[in-house]
Amino acid sequence: MANLIDGKQVSAAVKEQVRLETEKLVQESGKRPGLAVVIVGNNPASRVYVNNKKKACETVGFQSFEYALPEDTTQEELLELVQTLNSDSNVNGILVQLPVPPQIDDKAIINAISAEKDVDAFHPENVGRIMIGDYAFLPCTPAGVMELIDSTGVEISGKKCVVIGRSNIVGKPMAMLLLHRSGTVTICHSRTQDLASVTREADILVAAVGKANFVTADMVKDGAVVIDVGMNRLENGKLCGDVDFAQVEPKASWITPVPGGVGPMTIAMLMKNTLTAFKKQNQLA
Ligand code: GUN
Repeated sequence: MANLIDGKQVSAAVKEQVRLETEKLVQESGKRPGLAVVIVGNNPASRVYVNNKKKACETVGFQSFEYALPEDTTQEELLELVQTLNSDSNVNGILVQLPVPPQIDDKAIINAISAEKDVDAFHPENVGRIMIGDYAFLPCTPAGVMELIDSTGVEISGKKCVVIGRSNIVGKPMAMLLLHRSGTVTICHSRTQDLASVTREADILVAAVGKANFVTADMVKDGAVVIDVGMNRLENGKLCGDVDFAQVEPKASWITPVPGGVGPMTIAMLMKNTLTAFKKQNQLA
């Protein structure tokens, strides 16, 4: 029987820390952290994420600025908004919810966001900083995973860590954060041969594949820490992770549920990054 890693509880603790620090800084400086969230079009999943981000801003005492743009927004219009937000001193963090509609090049948008306000840590400058271990912002989802692993008390240093998935948003930075903590890290992906033989070696297994119930019991070592980044919507509307929870849970020492595992952490880490941005921009750090 595995211990459950409670993402709701860990994320609430992170947000409470952010709230307390924000309250203190607002009193000292008379300024309040602000996050601008931009959503283009009507993607229902994006709508839910954006609403949750706004709610989290309220919880921790930030101002939030929402910009909901129509589906047919041009790249030039979005770039113009990003420039306006870059020069607005009430806006400390800028997040353009992805995916954007096909007429917009997401790379051009990410590149246009000021690196100091890039609370997603998607800008090439921030990605490069993560690579060399000299960063202000951690990418939200991998940073949330690190908090969850730390909440178990399991030491990362020296352990075999396997990440399934090589996306720019999760897999690659995840591997880098585990490496910075002296894990022995392997990244697996769709071309990996005999995937199960690699994942079975993992003391810490992070699944970021995007396929429901992809990780089965035969792929998991006894006593592994299993982190499920997946958020797959099944045909019946239910949310399901990348890990077959019923099968894997008896083998793992610790495991995250879906929902209630990694999901809430991403938003908590976004709040932490926005506070960091606010402090840096106002020389409060
Ligand atoms: N779409 C899905 N996850 C994310 C995220 O973390 N940030 C942004 N900007 N868009 C997303």
